Amino acid sequence: MQRNATYVLGFAAIVCVVCAVVVSSAAVVLKDRQDANLAAYREQNVLEAAGFSEPGQPLSGDELTAAAARLTPVVIDLDTGDLNATVDVATFDQRRASTDPATSRSVDANQARIVRIPNQALVYELRDDAGNLDGVVLPIEGKGLWSTLYGFVALEADLTTIRGLTYFEQKETAGLGGEVDNPRWKALWPGRRAFDETGATAIEVLKGAAGTVEEAPYEVDGLSGATITSRGVTYMLQFWLGDEGFGPYLDRLREETI
Ligand SMILES: Cc1cc2nc3c(=O)[nH]c(=O)nc-3n(C[C@H](O)[C@H](O)[C@H](O)COP(=O)(O)O)c2cc1C
Repeated sequence: MQRNATYVLGFAAIVCVVCAVVVSSAAVVLKDRQDANLAAYREQNVLEAAGFSEPGQPLSGDELTAAAARLTPVVIDLDTGDLNATVDVATFDQRRASTDPATSRSVDANQARIVRIPNQALVYELRDDAGNLDGVVLPIEGKGLWSTLYGFVALEADLTTIRGLTYFEQKETAGLGGEVDNPRWKALWPGRRAFDETGATAIEVLKGAAGTVEEAPYEVDGLSGATITSRGVTYMLQFWLGDEGFGPYLDRLREETI
């Protein structure tokens, strides 16, 4: 009887070790591919926020080339809003930069619950054939209920009207906070206004329905049953569009477009 139990336990232990080795080897072997997929998905979100593609519909090769020709990634200093030509756009990792004390700084307590911000940020400028500014795509992040949400907000050339909002990474509950990924909710954003007449950040996700762009230019429908995630979206937009976020950069672009 005791020999039987030893045999069963020994067999179970071997199965556990074999499975652990298989799963961890798969994670290590597939890491590069997972990273590449995440990077591609992030780029797809940049294009979607900028209005080049419909949610979940990747562009064809030609469309991608045309879109890429109009979008220029640039690294900026967040405190001044100036371009930073010393940082390599191709290798800049904003998320890593925001955790390294040498390339980030802590910020005062804020509703978005952002603790540190990077000194530099990677943004995308949208320009026409003549080089005139057509819009910008800005990275945003902030807390929801369960997770940090990472996404993009894109503004039109007036730097006030929203072109689009997307999230490429979040772990909110599917069907509740996870509805930030719902194409119907994302379709509510284009045309809303991020700033009011005085230049203050005014965009807000309501609890409940907001109405059309004409009826409620500064408001967007809340996600039902997900007030905390909805508030998180409002707070992160207020933070990143404000003085500690992209405020100085947007001010510099406004001077350029006057
Ligand atoms: C299992 C579970 C998952 C939930 N997931 C979310 C979520 O992802 N985002 C969120 O804001 N609220 C979520 N909630 C609800 C919150 O706990 C909270 O009740 C809600 O945000 C309040 O929103 P309401 O006033 O619209 O009901 C979840 C609740 C439960 C029980």
